[in-house]
Amino acid sequence: MALVKDILETMEYGPAPEAAAEVLAWLKARRRFGHFIDGGFTAAGKTFAIDNPATGENLAEVTQGTAADVAAAVAAARAAQPAWAALPGHERAKWLYALARHVQKRDRFLAVLEVLDNGKPIREARDIDVPLVSRHFYHHAGWAEMLADEFPDAVPVGVCGQIIPWNFPLLMLAWKIAPALAAGNTVVLKPAEYTPLSALAFAEICAEVGLPPGVVNIVTGDGETGAALVAAPVDKIAFTGSTEVGRIIRRATAGTGKKLTLELGGKSPFIVFADADLDAAVEGVVDAIWFNQGQVCCAGSRILVAEAAEADFTARLTARLGKLRLGDPLDKCTDIGAIVHPVQLARIRDLVAQGQAAGAQLVQAECQLPAKGSFFAPGFMTGVHPANPVAVEEIFGPVATLTSFRTLDEAVELANNTRYGLAASIWTENISLALDIAARVKAGVIWVNATNLFDAGAGFGGMRESGFGREGGREGMAEYLKLPEPKPQPEAAPTRLDAAPLPGTPAAPGIDRTAKIYIGGAQKRPDGGYSYAVNAGSTHLGLAPLGNRKDIRNAVEAAHKAAGWGKATGHNRAQVLYFIAENLSARAAEFAARLASAGGDAAEVEASIRRLFYYAAQADKFDGAVHATKSAHVTLAMPEPFGVMGIACPNAAPLLGFVSLVAPAIAMGNRVVAIPAQSMPFAATDLYQVFDTSDLPGGVVNIITGARDELAKTLAQHDDVAAMWYCGSAEGGAMVEAESAGNLKATWTLRNRDWQGPGAQGPRFLARATQVKNIWVPYGE
Ligand code: NAI
Repeated sequence: MALVKDILETMEYGPAPEAAAEVLAWLKARRRFGHFIDGGFTAAGKTFAIDNPATGENLAEVTQGTAADVAAAVAAARAAQPAWAALPGHERAKWLYALARHVQKRDRFLAVLEVLDNGKPIREARDIDVPLVSRHFYHHAGWAEMLADEFPDAVPVGVCGQIIPWNFPLLMLAWKIAPALAAGNTVVLKPAEYTPLSALAFAEICAEVGLPPGVVNIVTGDGETGAALVAAPVDKIAFTGSTEVGRIIRRATAGTGKKLTLELGGKSPFIVFADADLDAAVEGVVDAIWFNQGQVCCAGSRILVAEAAEADFTARLTARLGKLRLGDPLDKCTDIGAIVHPVQLARIRDLVAQGQAAGAQLVQAECQLPAKGSFFAPGFMTGVHPANPVAVEEIFGPVATLTSFRTLDEAVELANNTRYGLAASIWTENISLALDIAARVKAGVIWVNATNLFDAGAGFGGMRESGFGREGGREGMAEYLKLPEPKPQPEAAPTRLDAAPLPGTPAAPGIDRTAKIYIGGAQKRPDGGYSYAVNAGSTHLGLAPLGNRKDIRNAVEAAHKAAGWGKATGHNRAQVLYFIAENLSARAAEFAARLASAGGDAAEVEASIRRLFYYAAQADKFDGAVHATKSAHVTLAMPEPFGVMGIACPNAAPLLGFVSLVAPAIAMGNRVVAIPAQSMPFAATDLYQVFDTSDLPGGVVNIITGARDELAKTLAQHDDVAAMWYCGSAEGGAMVEAESAGNLKATWTLRNRDWQGPGAQGPRFLARATQVKNIWVPYGE
């Protein structure tokens, strides 16, 4: 036996395994699981094996869900939804509270089950996952209670299909189910095929608390079952998983009217400045990438370290690596558990080998890997060229890349040199520097001197190809609610695109003209120089340019160059919008006469002036929130502009429709490439003269006239356009949603509406023009 003196010397721990007997007995009693549908378990169907990744031993068999199983679950959820939604918020709050209490009562059981199923260390499951699960249900019990006050006009979305991954099986379930239920929705959830067991245990908890049948349904299975759920008649899909599958789901739901949130992959930067507390930053790496086997979507998997600190930091990191304990995940002393599945282990090995083949060096812990199970020794890679697969692809294993930078600008450039934008971690003792970098990094969640902090009270979600939508807090609740939409108005028929006026269409007296497109603040002839004849009834109004792909490309480039607009203060942007309104007011009679002679509604001009005033007023008022989340932190929820947005305007209300969409977008700091009404583009191109005299910087609004849906398609496909609004036909909306899958841009497809009626302006337009960045800042003790 080792002497205490020796132990003090080596600091070795003895084994301290958590008991698993209760969970194993529970599994043994069930063995083959069916689905949980309409309040009860179905008989097991065709099953597949669930093995313990740490030992390879079989734990259970679960049923591969068929389309018929999914249909039955959706039907149960549909039947249960009206009564669930009709409950007073307080009643739903009580159910959520009961779920929270029961999760808490079973916390040890659930933590052990999660470890057996997923392979993560018990300390993570016990101290992070399960407490966050009950916290999530408590928090959302509160939202159910407050719903009527906080979201007075909103109604639940309906039946929600929810698909989750294997890295935080029970926590992802809580993130999905708690807000959905609080809002009055019912759900069909499909857990990941590697880790369905805690969801099935949660189903038992639902039955145990007596939750009304059909409110929560769990269908197990693989991607095919997931695809069946996406195709089923649900009202919303909430998905967390890989970007690749996110894209498939974006395309599959295009045009269906299903609400969609996607929380996808990441390649998050972990930025260490020379003045950082390097030991704290090293512990940050342990938490960010090693402790959880790197199986976290927001893992800080790209370490960027200031050159001045590189040698010191690398030495400390290497020393820490040597102290990590890999092994039995049930052991309370284990830091690094098992990789979820042999398939995932093979993927990690393959990517790391590719990285080495491309010139990177692997610094890896020299741990003894257990004889059985899926394990990968943690490490980091140096000498990583930006194009190396390990710098680009999500490894999803305990291996980070380490690169140095010299200047702040280089740090930001490297941080943003990825198609993802999920999270970032910034380490420095200089708060000004930290917040400067936080503003410049494109990511949905930023941690200052911390990493991987989560709380039900703060939103979580990504930018760019990390998806759209937020989970948690007020933003997450909004994703499970909808506001009544104004009654759709018929779209004006698309104008013909004849190059010359049709025979017998006389020119309108005094208004015949040839418009130009506007790119970067200047009038341009379209590339190619083609025009189309704009007619109102049988009157020829003039010629408008037929913009093409190249015009769109040039306009997007000009919009990118006008990035200063996003940094201007809300007050500055308000001043410009007021000035536009004032200058439009000075020319109101002229605009009204032109609209009237084109068969339009002269009242659009006054309504446009008011709308500009409204968004000018909002420019410095639509702002974020400060959440009290973890102790010693505050979380700033900042609505940020997307950057460059594409906007396809309605054919009806050619002036007011344009102003109603462009004004909120630019009020929030976006730059816009707008396609005005195809049938009457002059209303927008005339407005440009007003912009010109109102100090609107060139490139903030670019106007490309022509075939609206063709131009909208080019915008939707453009990788440098971050968000896209389309107001037009149902087919056009479906096309925009499908084409936007390339870079997973956030889209909003609206039907034409009465632009002078209710629902034509308001905060919902501003919320759609922004994405919330949640910045975790140290605060207090
Ligand atoms: P995945 O995206 O294939 O699986 C996530 C979930 O989607 C699972 O429940 C799966 O059954 C379901 N699914 C798969 N195909 C589907 C389809 N066509 N329609 C509907 N649902 C579908 O992720 P996978 O294969 O487990 O992991 C692959 C890689 O994805 C990982 O190596 C990692 O890089 C990334 N990943 C990212 C996660 C994140 O949280 N962002 C989580 C899990 C994986």
